[in-house]
Amino acid sequence: MIRIQGSHYLAFLAQFGIGGAHPGGINLSKALFSTENITPGADILDVGCGTGQTAAYLATAYQASVTGIDIHPVMIKKAQKRMQKARLPVRLLQGSIEKTSLPNESFDLILAESVLAFVNQQQALQEIYRLLKKSGRFIAIEFTKPTTLPPELADDIQQFYGFKSLLMKKDWVKLLQQAGFHDIRIQKNQSISSKPEFDVSAAIESKFYEVMDQHLAMNEKYQPFLDYRIYTCTK
Ligand SMILES: C[S@@+](CC[C@H](N)C(=O)[O-])C[C@H]1O[C@@H](n2cnc3c(N)ncnc32)[C@H](O)[C@@H]1O
Repeated sequence: MIRIQGSHYLAFLAQFGIGGAHPGGINLSKALFSTENITPGADILDVGCGTGQTAAYLATAYQASVTGIDIHPVMIKKAQKRMQKARLPVRLLQGSIEKTSLPNESFDLILAESVLAFVNQQQALQEIYRLLKKSGRFIAIEFTKPTTLPPELADDIQQFYGFKSLLMKKDWVKLLQQAGFHDIRIQKNQSISSKPEFDVSAAIESKFYEVMDQHLAMNEKYQPFLDYRIYTCTK
């Protein structure tokens, strides 16, 4: 199989409009929210909201005041379409979580579902910390390598997915602590899964079908190394 140069993985997710593009999908998100104290009107930020599946759920199930931010214009367009169709008052912003113009201490809860691996983690976590209200909660579901990987394998994973870096559990904890978070808990939950949703663009370049094939092949080849953890913590 010819490997496409540079990562097209996020563009592939956007073109196919894959919702619930994080390990465990929407069912894991629902389980995690059920253990948080989310009250009607709670201010929630969904970082890297993609097509808005989780944001829509929070607005509907909890009557939360939800903002979604995503760097990819196609993701934001598809999220807008979803909110308009369901008549949900979810605010959607296109931009990077590494630096936003949102005011300090705006949110009770911030989540990042398979997003931080793609960004400058230090900058993003500082920004998330700034945006949280005092005692606010942060939930992240993130790629976590189980062990130090042989360089060739690590390069292959990093380049295909476009991850900024491949972190282990201890690296994530250190970054969260450095950003100022406390009460850091880590969970492993391999038992919850969900079917992804699709909102496919009208015309998709053939290279994105190649990316889908490569993604499936990577999953099969590197399955034991493509692990994740759930991090929850407090400001
Ligand atoms: C694997 S997808 C997950 C999408 C969504 N959270 C979900 O679970 O369906 C990662 C998302 O992060 C977004 N993203 C990547 N870098 C970002 C950044 N710097 N700021 C905001 N969003 C970003 C991508 O555009 C993509 O929608």
